Amino acid sequence: MKKALLIVHHSMTGGTAQLAQAALQGAQTETGVRARLLQAPQAGPDDLLAADGFLFATPENLAAIAGLMKDFFDRCYYPVLDQIQGRPYAALICAGSDGSNAARQVARIATGWRLQAVAEPLIVCTHAQTPAQILAPKQIGAADLQRAEDLGAALAAGLALGVF
Ligand SMILES: Cc1cc2nc3c(=O)[nH]c(=O)nc-3n(C[C@H](O)[C@H](O)[C@H](O)COP(=O)(O)O)c2cc1C
Repeated sequence: MKKALLIVHHSMTGGTAQLAQAALQGAQTETGVRARLLQAPQAGPDDLLAADGFLFATPENLAAIAGLMKDFFDRCYYPVLDQIQGRPYAALICAGSDGSNAARQVARIATGWRLQAVAEPLIVCTHAQTPAQILAPKQIGAADLQRAEDLGAALAAGLALGVF
């Protein structure tokens, strides 16, 4: 039976989406794992219950996880509480210049679920400063896409090998 990795993400200007896609690509190099990428509004409690590990990918907006990721966690928190404890997870944050508070929020929610953090949060900064830069479509550089791909591959490899 293949292990399942669920990647849940939201993205407004494309940065997080590119990183989540790169993580999916990395995870798909591991043949022993079935990796799924879902947008936050499409993800629900059944998707969490069906997965053996998770990658939560979100922009940092207003020093917080994006609203649609918060909505995903709000909808799913109690329906899966006490049913996914111990499962491995990692967080991927796309931010303009910070990202630390979004990472803390994801960690806090994951602690409530008693998930096991198996990697440091991957924070990618786009260095968008002005309103025009922040609202512009993002193009994530190759080095950061590689970091996301490596994270997806590491999560999948750990799941496949049963090391988490
Ligand atoms: C309303 C809004 C608030 C933001 N607040 C922050 C913030 O608090 N810290 C930060 O580092 N970046 C912030 N940003 C920048 C985004 O995190 C950055 O543009 C990132 O690329 C968004 O990810 P996305 O391209 O996947 O939508 C904000 C962007 C928007 C639109």
